[in-house]
Formats: sequence, structure tokens, C-alpha cells
Amino acid sequence: AAFARPVNGSLPFDPIAPVNRFVDDFVVPSGYTWQPIIRWGDPLFSNAPVFDVNAQTPAAQALQFGYNSDYLDILPDPSGKTGVLVNNHEYCNPGIMFPPQADPADAAERQRRGDIFKAAQGLSIVEITRRRTGQPWSYVVDGTRNRRITVETVFELTGPAAGSDLVKTAADPEGRWVHGTLGNCAGGTTPWGTILSGEENFNGYFAWAADTPEQKRYQSSASRSTETGWDTYDPRFNAHDPAYVNEPNRFGYIVEIDPQDPNSMPRKHTAMGRFKHEGANVIVAEDGRVVAYMGDDERNDYLYKFVSKNKISGSRKKNLDLLSEGDLYVAKFAGNSPAGEITGTGVLPSDGLFDGSGTWIPLTQNGQSVVPGFTTEQVLVYTRLAADAVGATKMDRPEDVEPSPKTGKVYLALTNNSARSALDEANPVTGNRYGHVIEMTETAGQAGTTFGWSILLLCGDPAVFANSYFAGFPRELVSPISCPDNVAFDSAGNLWVSTDGAPSTIGYNDGLFLVPLEGAERGHVQQFLAVPREAETCGPVIHDREGMVFVAVQHPGEGGSFAAPTSLFPDYGRSQPGDAPRTPRPSVVQVYRA
Ligand code: FEO
Ligand code: CA
Ligand code: CA
Ligand code: CA
Repeated sequence: AAFARPVNGSLPFDPIAPVNRFVDDFVVPSGYTWQPIIRWGDPLFSNAPVFDVNAQTPAAQALQFGYNSDYLDILPDPSGKTGVLVNNHEYCNPGIMFPPQADPADAAERQRRGDIFKAAQGLSIVEITRRRTGQPWSYVVDGTRNRRITVETVFELTGPAAGSDLVKTAADPEGRWVHGTLGNCAGGTTPWGTILSGEENFNGYFAWAADTPEQKRYQSSASRSTETGWDTYDPRFNAHDPAYVNEPNRFGYIVEIDPQDPNSMPRKHTAMGRFKHEGANVIVAEDGRVVAYMGDDERNDYLYKFVSKNKISGSRKKNLDLLSEGDLYVAKFAGNSPAGEITGTGVLPSDGLFDGSGTWIPLTQNGQSVVPGFTTEQVLVYTRLAADAVGATKMDRPEDVEPSPKTGKVYLALTNNSARSALDEANPVTGNRYGHVIEMTETAGQAGTTFGWSILLLCGDPAVFANSYFAGFPRELVSPISCPDNVAFDSAGNLWVSTDGAPSTIGYNDGLFLVPLEGAERGHVQQFLAVPREAETCGPVIHDREGMVFVAVQHPGEGGSFAAPTSLFPDYGRSQPGDAPRTPRPSVVQVYRA
């Protein structure tokens, strides 16, 4: 494939060949090398014990880097020699984290393990350092900003649903103070320097009654047990318990954390709605209000946008409240080609594009519900039902959605949708196996209510899926790509896409791909790296001016077992202090020039 040199960027590379899904290796382009910055179990604090999978404890895990890394940012300080690394820990893989429990009936041991899982989730904030700009980073044990946020950290609820009856429990009669965050998937870093994190698959941590329409819309079946076992000893994870029937209503939000202040209380913003939040990415509108784009990652769920009431200011303290007040919208897409030309096979309609226009339908205006039959609190806690009521467009699993800082155009990753049967021009492939990426252009300003859109990529391996589409670029020249999940931009405005699901759909390990958006190279998808066996590529951060790329490697070897691991990433049997040679370890990796 052709040599890629992003316009004005400084990260030239020869695309790598796709990596077979049974290969357990982290693969980078010729001329680059890689190294983990931090791995599951590495101590953030000097009072944490050396990581030992056979002797793990809840107290140790609460002082160590967590499991299953997802959203990532690397925030250098002005000197360029110090900074902070922020990373979400989405979930745990009990089957590969530890040896099997000798006596499954041992309740004390089950609780001990459950408490390790509580401490392994949430987020890590850790200081990093290096000798010079452009050199690889090391993390700092006992850095003054180091912090673990876990399933027991106290969060403040903000916005109109805070304090409402829908979020009160026996332990929190005020409905304002929530212990923990769950399912932290993608996220975003705000212009004022805070981290937003999406609470995605929170439903899996509760034993549900699922006997109300509201419960059913967030959890399709009445699961009576959880994989973590929390419901067996901590009543707040048992949604059958009348004292905690509202506990699930306290998860499924966008959380905001100030990585510069380890003593700050993190917050959950009810004004941004409650669903399986993939993440949120903020851009400042022409008039100074801030706009956040947000996906609800479920088959046939929706794309949302939040517009703040107040404008960004020079006061960081005031900006910390921007996401507590504003209006929530949900997207409705309209195609411009006859329905009969949308065949479900990916064949382009006669106008040559899957494209059209759309509207942002308000769910709240001036902070109040505008959905007939819904109070404001109901809109913000049962957001999916409110969006159903206004006729939003059912999408193919909206994952990361991010505005380009260069153009303001918005890029929406739709990862796949096995349940796609009713077709529309924005979701035009039956059973959408490989996913697609939509490019949206706001047509009434960034905070406005109308947009245009077109499908940028219909993913797949062109050798197998002949109707895959890459913005018109010759498909025989692109890297095969499947199941887009996270998106990012480099300094030149090129899009980068990371994937989750390539092994089971196109037979290759997941990876990170450059997608130029302008000029003759538009749509020329080129693979930069591949993650190890059974891993997902998360949190790409592109510091192209330094020739550096950072990714989080999530769930390496998740198809294996503790006794028979399928991945030994990232230590690969090397025996160094803190290594666990037979256990895969989710990690944050830096890629830099060799
Ligand atoms: Fe956790 Fe939607 O990916
Ligand atoms: Ca069209
Ligand atoms: Ca994701
Ligand atoms: Ca995913």
C-alpha cells in the first residue's frame, strides 16, 4: 500500500499488514517501537504491594492501576516533561484475572474477589515524566496528582434530576451522593481540562427485577445474578430490594473529573441524560456555549447532543459547571434517496452517496422537559423512553462521536448491529456486521438543530465485502477495517479510528487506522498498529508532532482462561519485578520512533 504522509502532520508510516487473529503480538510500523507506560496491577502508590495475581487483595488493587483500560488521555504540563495520564477501567474479566475460586460456595472468598473487582474498575489518574519532549514517558509512583477512582468513590449528582425521587435510596435519602462509577467506556477531555467518562454497560452490575417499562428499556431481561457477585453481599446492587430499587437510576451518566485536583469530588451530570453512554466530546460553539456529542451504545439506540446554557469563560471554576445546565437533543436522520434504492447490501443509491439531512429534536428546552407526558426528571433519568416518544432514528450502536477541532464536522462510529433489519439511508446494511462511520455537518451552527450527513466509511474487508466503501477511495488500496469504536484527530485534522470486533468479523486482530479526510487521500484507510490476540484498541491519542501514538489495550486474551492464557501481553514471559508472566495485563502503550 502507498506511503502515508498526513498533510502537515509528522507521523509518516508504511501501513502494517493486517495481523491474523491468532497472533498474540502488538504490531507497529517499521521504524517505530512500543512500550507499556503502565499495566494492570502496577502500583500508583509506594504503599501498594508488588503485583502478584496469586495474592491480590482489595486494598492492594485500590492502590494499583485498574483493569480493562478504555478511554485515555495524555495531558502534558506546559514544560512537556511532566504531565498526567488519565484512563478508564471499563470492566473486569474474572475468568482470567485470578485462579479459579477453590470452593465456589465460600461466601467470604466470593466477597473478597467482588471487592477486588470494585477496586479494579473506575479510573486511574497518574503522573508521568520524561527527560525531553518526544521521548517516551514513565509513570510516577506517588505523583501528587495520582488518584484511583473506584466503585466506592463518592460522586455528586448535578443538574435537574439531582435530588429527585427517582434517584433516592435508603443510603442516600437526598438523592445527591452516589458511590462509584460503572462501565466507564470512552470519554473526552474538555476545553477547560477536565475528563468526561461515559457510564456504559452499568446494567450488568445489578440483579434486576425488570418488571417496569423503565427497567426493561435499560435491561432487557430480569437477570437474577451478576458476574461480579456484588448483589450477593451488597444490597445496593440488588434492584429487587425496595430500599435500593433506584440504585440503577444513579448510573448511566456522563461523569466529569478534574485530573489536576486529586481532592476534587467527581460529578455525574444528569442534564446530559441517562443511557448507556459511550462517551462525550465537547466543542465550543460560535456563540461560546459548549456542545457535547454523545452516543448510546446499544443496537437500535440513539445519538444525542447537549448544549450548555452558559458560555465558556476565562474562569475555570465557572466552566466546571457548564455541563450541569443546558438542553438535551436526540438525532433524527433523513435520507435523500428513494427507499427502494437502499437495498441492505451496501450498494450505493443512484445519487452515489448514503447521505441526507437531519434534525436535533429537543428533549429539554431551557432545562425543562418538552416531551409530552414526561417530567424533566423523567426525561433525564429515563432518557431512552423520552427519545422513543419523539421518534429519534434507531442507529447501528453509536460508539464514540467526536467533532473535528479543525472543521467542527462530527464523526460518528457505528460499530455494528446484528439486529438491523428495517433499513434507512443512515443505517443501510442488513445485519450490519462490519459497522460504518458517518460524517455530519452542522448547518445552523454548532449549537443549532439541523445538520447534513453522509456515510464516510462502510467498513469491512474489501476482499470479502465487495460493497465496502471508503469515501470513494479505491477499495483495493485500503487496509481492511471492521467495527469502528473510538475516533481521534491528529494536529493536521486527519481522523484516526480504533476498532473492537475485527477478529470475529474479518479474522484480523483489532487495530488503529489513519483516515485522511481531505483531498485525494480522503478515505484512504491505513492501518498503523494492531493489538494482541482478543484485545480491543481503545483511547487512541495522536501526538503526531512528537511522532507518538498512545493506545489502551483492553481485554487481551479474554477468550482464554487463567490456566490456559491465550495472550501474554505485554510482558510476554519476560521476568522483571512486577511482571506476571502467565497473565495478560490490560495496559496503556506508547508507540514512538525507534
Ligand atoms: Fe464499551 Fe461501546 O464500547
Ligand atoms: Ca443519497
Ligand atoms: Ca467503546
Ligand atoms: Ca465496543
